[in-house]
Amino acid sequence: MITKELQRTHYCGDIDKEELVGKRLVINGWVQNYRDHGDLTFLDIRDRTGIIQLVFDPKTNPDAHLIAKKARSEDVISATGVVLLRTAENINPKIPTGKHEVKIDTIEILNKSKTPPFQMDQTEISEEVRLKYRFLDFRRPEMYQNLLMRHKITHTARNFLHQNGFLEVETPILNKSTPEGARDFLVPSRLSPGKFYALPQSPQIFKQLLMVGGIEKYYQIAKCFRDEDLRADRQLEFTQIDIEMSFITEDDIISLMEQMMAQVLEENYRIKIKLPIRRMTHQEAMEKYAIDRPDLRFGMEIVDVTSVVKESEFTVFKSVAQSGGMIKCLPVPEGSRLSRKDMDDLIAFVGKYGSKGMAWMRVKDGKLESNIVKYFSDAIQKELIEKTGAKEDYALLFVGDVKKKVVYDSLANLRLHLGEKFGLRDKSKFEFVWIVDFPLFEWNEEENRYDSVHHPFTAPKMEDINLLEKDPGKVRSDAYDLVLNGIELGGGSIRIHNPDVQKKIFNLLNISDEDAKIKFGFLLEALSYGAPPHGGLAFGLDRMVMEFQGLSNIRDVIAFPKTQKGQDIMSDTPSEVTQKQLEELNVKIAENRANK
Ligand code: AMO
Repeated sequence: MITKELQRTHYCGDIDKEELVGKRLVINGWVQNYRDHGDLTFLDIRDRTGIIQLVFDPKTNPDAHLIAKKARSEDVISATGVVLLRTAENINPKIPTGKHEVKIDTIEILNKSKTPPFQMDQTEISEEVRLKYRFLDFRRPEMYQNLLMRHKITHTARNFLHQNGFLEVETPILNKSTPEGARDFLVPSRLSPGKFYALPQSPQIFKQLLMVGGIEKYYQIAKCFRDEDLRADRQLEFTQIDIEMSFITEDDIISLMEQMMAQVLEENYRIKIKLPIRRMTHQEAMEKYAIDRPDLRFGMEIVDVTSVVKESEFTVFKSVAQSGGMIKCLPVPEGSRLSRKDMDDLIAFVGKYGSKGMAWMRVKDGKLESNIVKYFSDAIQKELIEKTGAKEDYALLFVGDVKKKVVYDSLANLRLHLGEKFGLRDKSKFEFVWIVDFPLFEWNEEENRYDSVHHPFTAPKMEDINLLEKDPGKVRSDAYDLVLNGIELGGGSIRIHNPDVQKKIFNLLNISDEDAKIKFGFLLEALSYGAPPHGGLAFGLDRMVMEFQGLSNIRDVIAFPKTQKGQDIMSDTPSEVTQKQLEELNVKIAENRANK
C-alpha cells in the first residue's frame, strides 16, 4: 500500500532543472547504489526515467539517515526532501541529473529486495540470467528504452494508419491453418475430440475476407505463430503490422507504406529517409548480391564470370560451366587485407554453404596473381579484370557449382562476412530497398513440385499470365519485400481476386481441387461473391524495432521472448500438463516421447 503523502511528485530523471532548486518533492523508485561516507550517506534512486542522488545528513535528519543506512540494492523506497545544487566538485557529468541532488528528511522503505542476481547498471550479464529474471531486466535502462521505442513505433504506425482511413480489426487466434510455409502450432479441441485448431502464421486469409466484405482498409498489430527453427531475427511468436487495402495498385501500397516508414523514423529517431525508396527487381538482387534481401550499406557487387572462365584451362570451372552450372566472382577492394590464412578460412566458410571450394586471385601491377592463374590465358585474365571492374590490390574470390543455390548462398554470405570483417555494416546507416517482381513459384527439388515464393494467394503479373501453363517457373508475381540493411522488414503482394485463377494456382502447387475445397473452400467461396481487387503487406514489428534500435538480437525488443530452443526459462515453458488435462483433450503422449 502506498499513501497519498508517499506518492511521487517528480520522476528521478526530471530533476535536472534549475527551477526545481529549493523545491520540496517526493521520489519513488529503487535503490541503485548505496554509499556511506561516515558524515553523509548517499542513495542513488532509479525509476524508468533516470537516476537522482539522495543525500542523508545524520546531523539534520537522524531518523531518515538511520533508515537510509539500512537500504540496499533494489529496495523500493519513497523519500521526501529538498532539491539542492551540487557544489562544482561534486557534479557528476555522467548522468543528466548530475548537477542536482535531493536532501532528504523522511524516507520509507516500501519493500525490501533480495540481493539481485545482477546490478541494473552492469554491462556484461548473460542472456540466460536476464531471461530468467526478466522482471529485473526491465529495470535496466537499455531494456526500458527498447520497450519504449517499440511502443512509440507502434503508436506512430497506428496514428498513421488511422489518419489514412484504416480500421483496426482483430482476427482469431484459434484457426484453420494458413499456409505461410512454416509448421503450424496446433491446439487440440476439447469440444471436437480428435480435431485441432492451428494458431495463425499470419492473418492472411482473414484480411482478404475483410476486403471481400468491403472493409477497404484494414490493419492489425497481429500476433503470428510459426513453428520454425529460430535465428537471431526469428521468434516462434512474433508481431506483424498487418495491412490490406482494396482497389489499389502495387505502387499505391508501396508509396503509402514507405510514407509510414518515413514517419516512424522521423518522429521517433529524427532520421529523414529519402522517398521514394529505391526499387530493385528480384533478378537484379540475385545477380548482384546473390540474395533477395541485399545489404546495400556497402558495394562489393558479385559478377557472373561463367562465360569468361569456361574458356580457361581450369578444369574445375570448365566442368561446372559445361554441366550448366555457374561461376561467380566477388571482387574485394583492398584485397591485401586478406592474408593467405584468411583465404583458407574463407574456403572453410563457403564450405558451410555446400561449396566444394573457393578459388582466389589478386590484382598486382595490373595483372592477376595466384597459384591457378597459369590456367587462364592473358586474354581471359584481361577479360576477368575488365568484367569484375577489379583495380590494383583487389582480391577476386570465385565460387562455382552446378547447383545455383550453392553459389548464391556461398557468395551472399561471403559478401556479408567480409562486409562485417571490414566494418562496412554500419549500424547508423539506413539503406532501404524494395525488392519487386519476385518469381511466383520456386521449384522444390525434394518434393518435385512448385512452391509459392510468398504464399498461394499472390497474384501473377498480368503480362506473365499466359506463361502459367507453359513455363510456371518464369511467371513473375506482384509481390514486394521491404529490405533494410539486409533484413527483410516486411513483404506483401497484390492478391488473386478471381476464384478461377486461384484454383489454377492451387493446382500448379499440387493442391488438388478436393484439398483446396477442404482447406480454402471458404476463401474460394468468398472470392466468388464479387471480391474487389486487393493487396497488402505485413511488417515484422520485432525486426523493425531491432533494426532501428541498432540491435542484432530480436529477443532484446520483445518483453517476454523465447530462447533459441523455444523455451521461456522464467516460467519453464513448455511444460508438462496433468493427465486429467490430456484426457479432457483426448490427447495421448506417445510412449517413447514421455519423460524425455
Ligand atoms: P511474411 O511471411 O513475409 O508475410 O511475413 C511478414 C514479415 O514478418 C516478419 N517475420 C518474422 N519475424 C520474426 N520471427 C519470425 N519467425 C518471422 N517470420 C516473418 C518478417 C516478414 O517480412 N501474410 C504475409 C504478408 C502479406 O502478404 O501481406 C506474411 O505473413 O519481417
